[in-house]
Amino acid sequence: MKFFIDTANLDQIRQAYEMGVLDGVTTNPSLMAKEGIKGKENQHKHYVDICNIVKSDVSAEVISTDYEGMIAEGEELAALNEHIVIKLPCTADGIRAVKYFSEKGMKTNCTLVFSVGQALLAAKAGATYVSPFVGRLDDISEDGVGLIKEIVDMYNYYGYATQVLAASIRHTRHIIDCLKAGADVATCPLAAIKGLLNHPLTDIGLEKFLADYKKVNG
Ligand code: G3P
Repeated sequence: MKFFIDTANLDQIRQAYEMGVLDGVTTNPSLMAKEGIKGKENQHKHYVDICNIVKSDVSAEVISTDYEGMIAEGEELAALNEHIVIKLPCTADGIRAVKYFSEKGMKTNCTLVFSVGQALLAAKAGATYVSPFVGRLDDISEDGVGLIKEIVDMYNYYGYATQVLAASIRHTRHIIDCLKAGADVATCPLAAIKGLLNHPLTDIGLEKFLADYKKVNG
């Protein structure tokens, strides 16, 4: 399973990268706004800064909602750095744009996906990644992880190459559940990734090793 961090915060991205387990970054307009990145020039610089930290896939989302605007924006974003993945909403224009970019061999991430039908369209259009939002489905009493499993099974049955990028991950348990459901990627808050480290028996065991060593070696 690949780990992406879902943030535009450079410090958190650095922390995750230095853990040695990071495979990429996803951003979205809300995450960029949260960092106060204002204006296209600053946004583009910020994406390049992220690419230079992780040197792996970085999803940068278009703000246009029309096909022509998405194409223009996506071309600009992709030209910033080799690691940029063009993030497009799962709408009629977004799917058309995914098709356009996939036919040009450019990486795409089809986002705001909440159903198997949407995931099917993303795969047929040639999306590199599809981003089903697990947490937001759970928030309305639907089964976010269940959707991941359905999409993985459908992609495997038909042989689609699109990677399932579990998004809207709220906590460590979501990572484990999405892993078991067969997701290719989980894009997570830093805390959720760090939570994978936590086990009391590891702490207890290390403490005993050190205590036993100290008894003999001082
Ligand atoms: O970036 C897409 C997705 O991860 C957003 O998550 O927590 O805003 O539902 P969230």
